[in-house]
Amino acid sequence: MPETFIVSYYQQIIFDWILNGQGNGIINAVAGSGKTTTLVHAATRIQSDKLLFTSFNTHIVDELRLRLPHNSTCKTIHSIGNSCINRKLKVSKCTVKDSKYKSLCNAAAKQIHNNLLIEFENKLAIWGTTPDGDLPDDVPKLELIKEQLNSIVSLSQLTLTEASDISQLRELISHYTIDCPINIEDIVNDVEAILHEGERIALEENVIDYNDMVWLPYKWKLLPEIYNWILVDEAQDLNRAQLHLLLKMVNEETRMLFVGDPNQAIYGFAGADWKKRRN
Ligand SMILES: Nc1ncnc2c1ncn2[C@@H]1O[C@H](COP(=O)(O)OP(=O)(O)O)[C@@H](O)[C@H]1O
Ligand SMILES: [Mg+2]
Repeated sequence: MPETFIVSYYQQIIFDWILNGQGNGIINAVAGSGKTTTLVHAATRIQSDKLLFTSFNTHIVDELRLRLPHNSTCKTIHSIGNSCINRKLKVSKCTVKDSKYKSLCNAAAKQIHNNLLIEFENKLAIWGTTPDGDLPDDVPKLELIKEQLNSIVSLSQLTLTEASDISQLRELISHYTIDCPINIEDIVNDVEAILHEGERIALEENVIDYNDMVWLPYKWKLLPEIYNWILVDEAQDLNRAQLHLLLKMVNEETRMLFVGDPNQAIYGFAGADWKKRRN
């Protein structure tokens, strides 16, 4: 920490709130306005050995681990979820396979595509003999079906959408404007089966991916460690699964401070979730 650091007017208000105030706080401010620095200095003022500094962003966590006081814990939300899963599975380390759901989605897409091709051939054969029958619709491209399945599976994990609930899936598709060459009614079973298989692979083979790290703790109702203070950097990037995990780390005494820049939100998660957090 540079010795020249002079606490700004706004930073002082935040530090006063930390030391003398109560409850939880959210700071919205633009990039470069001193949010991360404020959290680092806040950590030095908090007298607690149950202090967690967390962010979605691995680079920030790695860098800040060196700048934060020794009594604080500095972890990404993914690594917190990962530890919960390892404890549940009684392994020291799960295998992380980034392509886990991609393989499942692509295999399912191939099956769906093959079935559609067969259906198409059958219709064509009938149409050939009955000239007044309707022309069969074209079969969507395999790549588009793969993309549709991958997006729906991944986003339903991150937004904690119940995959068996068709109205929730419809909402998800419309919120994230997912291209759907196949009607959702026709693939809801596939989405459910993929997620179910993902759980099985985690349980029996101890193989997970990054989405699993925040989704499985929700699915399996896992309990992370409780902290007295939680400081969250880059909070605009939190998705519902991450927020859910964070909120499992608090008790009535815990105080939380979120800092973020809503204008820098990626994936549009913050839109819905950020507003909810403010209420
Ligand atoms: N009170 C302060 N006085 C001088 N420089 C500051 C102060 N607070 C933050 N800074 C500097 O401003 C720059 C941006 O701060 P940072 O915390 O990274 O912003 P943000 O996280 O909002 O993007 C850094 O170089 C940091 O050292
Ligand atoms: Mg920052």
